[in-house]
Amino acid sequence: MYQFSDKIFDIAALLSCLQDTDSKRLVLFGAAGYGEALFDELTRRMIPLPIVFADNDPTKQGRLLRDRPIISPKDTDPSTDLVVITTISAGDQVSAQLESLGFTRDMNYFEVMQKLDYSHAFDVIDFYQGYVRAFGGLDILHVGPGGHLGVEILLSVLGARSVYSVEYHSFRLQYPDVTEVERFYTGLAETAKKKWQHDIYQNGPLIQNGKTLNIRKDMIHLLYPCSVTALPFAEFSFDLVLHHAVFEHVPDPEKGYGEIFRVLRPGGKTVGLVDPQDHRTFSSFKEYHPLKFLEHSRQEWYELARDINFHNQVTTPEHRQMALSQGFRLDKWDVLVKMDVSEEIWQSFHPQFSDFDRDEIGILRFAFSATRPVQ
Ligand SMILES: C[S@@+](CC[C@H](N)C(=O)[O-])C[C@H]1O[C@@H](n2cnc3c(N)ncnc32)[C@H](O)[C@@H]1O
Repeated sequence: MYQFSDKIFDIAALLSCLQDTDSKRLVLFGAAGYGEALFDELTRRMIPLPIVFADNDPTKQGRLLRDRPIISPKDTDPSTDLVVITTISAGDQVSAQLESLGFTRDMNYFEVMQKLDYSHAFDVIDFYQGYVRAFGGLDILHVGPGGHLGVEILLSVLGARSVYSVEYHSFRLQYPDVTEVERFYTGLAETAKKKWQHDIYQNGPLIQNGKTLNIRKDMIHLLYPCSVTALPFAEFSFDLVLHHAVFEHVPDPEKGYGEIFRVLRPGGKTVGLVDPQDHRTFSSFKEYHPLKFLEHSRQEWYELARDINFHNQVTTPEHRQMALSQGFRLDKWDVLVKMDVSEEIWQSFHPQFSDFDRDEIGILRFAFSATRPVQ
């Protein structure tokens, strides 16, 4: 398990605030991995306030995490509680929610930021290189970059002709001024130089201007907010569209696959990794197994998931069917994580899933590449 202080920028600010506060209780908003890690860190530091978790997921409310109760956000109180938002994915919505409950930013609620890890960008590039021979000369679209544009910078350095990126949620993405997260980009640049002997600053996508570091907007184009289900590009705009751990979060993935098909040139390729599993298992709740979300009807799940870091209930065989029905030719299909669906788990699914292929539904992570045929 990582140390929370390795993952955020402002643990020191949070600790000093905890020393001065008049609050009676500390509420960690987000009963998941980051919340747990922060809990462990604060417990090690023996902070004096009692700690509880809050979460918008009604299936978590009333449970215990690290032996502490998980409460509904409605049961927080601005006059006595200090809230720390630990959910990176839904930070904007949660801030707005807390403000509507009477909390004030940096007075009785704080947000911890994810410390970005540039090695992830190299991992993603290495992964795609298993599917795409070279990026040189291509017009590339990256869907859902998350908290940084590291992948985009590396694609540009590797010779892409143009790099576009579309992001639907803020994920605290900084652009084009990245001075606040400078260490991420300078680390990325140094590593790229060692690995590929490419200089990111010399005619590259980063410009250091005195104390500020900027991403060149003419080289890396970010469109935000923008959904893969409504891409503002003409037909035949790209040679390659990448998406990494995005399609399980899209409410209407079929539309997203259709949009990718539309913007690709004939002969163009899409490559992606999809994680069709219950993301509640990414914390230490023993009660959730990776397919537990299939116990709910579609309608129930969409209601439940609406206020949490949304992920859809689309299973692996459905993703494949949705992508291929757009007209793609499948080039490569890799199962990366799979579980055996026991009789007990199979029987627990909502009847809506009873016609599905039991073996394929157990695929929890897959990657594929597909081409828009030339015809
Ligand atoms: C699990 S994160 C993965 C981030 C990044 N690709 C990575 O590998 O770390 C999912 C990303 O998909 C983005 N996303 C979700 N729905 C989207 C949509 N409809 N269109 C574009 N991006 C979307 C989220 O905002 C988030 O950045």
